[in-house]
Amino acid sequence: MTSSRDSIERDAQVMQLYEQLLEVEQRLIPTGLHTFGRAAELKEKADLLRMVASFDRPEHGAHALPRLVAEALGIHGYDALVQEATTSEMKELIDGVVSEAVRHFCENGADASASWLHARVGIERDKSLPTFTLLGDISRQLDANNEIESLLRALRGEYIEPGPGADIVQNPQVLPTGRNTHAVNPYSVPSQVAFDRARHTAEALLARYTHEHGRYPRALALVLWGLDNIKTAGEGVAQALWLLGVRPVRDALNRATDVAVIPLEELKRPRIDVVMTVSGIFRDLFTPTMTLLDKAVRCVAALDEPLDVNYVRRNVSESMKEGASDFDDAVTRVFSNAPGNYGTNVNFMVMDSQWDKEETLGDLFVTRKSFAYTRDSKGRTVEGREAPHLMNDALSRVEATYQNLDSFEIGITDVDHYFEYLGGISKAVETRTKSRPAIYISDSLSPQTKIRSLEETVRLETRSKTLNPKWYEGMLKHGFRGVAEIENHVANTFGWSATADAVDPWIYTEIARTFVLDPIMFERLWELNQYSTKSLVRRLLEAHDRGYWNPDEEVLERLRDTIEGLEDRFEGSKVISK
Ligand code: BEZ
Ligand code: MG
Repeated sequence: MTSSRDSIERDAQVMQLYEQLLEVEQRLIPTGLHTFGRAAELKEKADLLRMVASFDRPEHGAHALPRLVAEALGIHGYDALVQEATTSEMKELIDGVVSEAVRHFCENGADASASWLHARVGIERDKSLPTFTLLGDISRQLDANNEIESLLRALRGEYIEPGPGADIVQNPQVLPTGRNTHAVNPYSVPSQVAFDRARHTAEALLARYTHEHGRYPRALALVLWGLDNIKTAGEGVAQALWLLGVRPVRDALNRATDVAVIPLEELKRPRIDVVMTVSGIFRDLFTPTMTLLDKAVRCVAALDEPLDVNYVRRNVSESMKEGASDFDDAVTRVFSNAPGNYGTNVNFMVMDSQWDKEETLGDLFVTRKSFAYTRDSKGRTVEGREAPHLMNDALSRVEATYQNLDSFEIGITDVDHYFEYLGGISKAVETRTKSRPAIYISDSLSPQTKIRSLEETVRLETRSKTLNPKWYEGMLKHGFRGVAEIENHVANTFGWSATADAVDPWIYTEIARTFVLDPIMFERLWELNQYSTKSLVRRLLEAHDRGYWNPDEEVLERLRDTIEGLEDRFEGSKVISK
């Protein structure tokens, strides 16, 4: 009995490992920096086109290739299959045919690929042709690069055509590059598509939380960025609305200016309280959207519903009972920087090692982001009133923090902004509730909705980028700048230790092994960029000093020797260059 249970368990573990490997393998990563004026190479183009082809594009009459293949193979329930967390032979079969079809397309063009797909799995040519035709248009635009020409025209003071700003996969209309980016009409946000996708994501987020905690979170803290909501036509905004249990309502001019309450019978769960910290860019671009979000919270707080199914009302009434505030204050949930200010500065404090206790980082976040944007009961606009007491009160009930990832190229260790925002607010919550919140990230990169914990996302980013030879060799082709990118990744990873304690110690060990303790690699880095190489070693030692990593004494010794050696070499090279 025991042995058969053991073997079932073992098989399950092997399967889980296999799925994790597939996830890392299939993750799309940039394999180098973009070189201004240079078009994408074939391999990179094929990867992009495969991703583009995995979404339905009704505006072009184009069907998602995986869906067409699934239907042709008689696999039912494609949508459910895509949403499944686990992989399966069916999924692999579909992905294999799609990859082959896109490869075929890159070599032989649209017409031939539609015929190939017909011969391979029996899809009628006229069904797949619109998709391949779209890929053809995108492929031609990827080959034509107007960036240098446009820059020269801009320098001559000439007119540059505008184009939408987004990810190619999300909106192929961004091509050709080399145009001025225009934003969106804030009143169009969230779009219907964004709302539909947000619903899946928000429900998946709650499912993950309830699976791990056995109940719904009393309140969630959401980070909303401007560019993301442009790219996704407001998915983040729509997620907030769906969590609250309302949908956007459009006025006679088709502007999203109001909300309608989704009945509890339809929602089938409590209304979740949300505290929103929006970036300075979001505040500037989406003023009417902030009004919409504020209105949504006020509307939900005022509903005549039992407290155990309306957490907004419960939290607001608790806050008022505690005597801290009146309704207007207690219901404030939309916060940003002071007018004219941007960012949290948490990233600068981390990068410059200017903090003693981690809670300072959370406090700095609140100092920078606790300006309330709301309308009071009389309809008077409050635009950026300093209100740390209200933010502290709202955060004191938060049990999970969350942000959406929206791009393949920029992930949570590529830039310092993710840890300054999501890490910053998580630390602020931890200090105010005396308990670390659950921290989640979703990506709206692929058709399937995937919610990951922050720790899982750090692991995935580390394996698919920082420690992946394909990634770092791609970076090293760019010489000085490439080494700076590697060092940035290490520093941003460190930022996740500082703000959220989300980095497994093995990550630092492997970084040390890959970039410092391997003498050949270390020499390459040093030759290309002494400054970043030195910072990288220093950062590893700082990670140890601050208790984020406890390597073997031998490793530590070698790192210390390395830094001492570097000081000498650095001084030496300065003397020589004089
Ligand atoms: C934004 O789009 O809101 C944003 C961009 C970069 C850093 C932080 C926020
Ligand atoms: Mg920046």
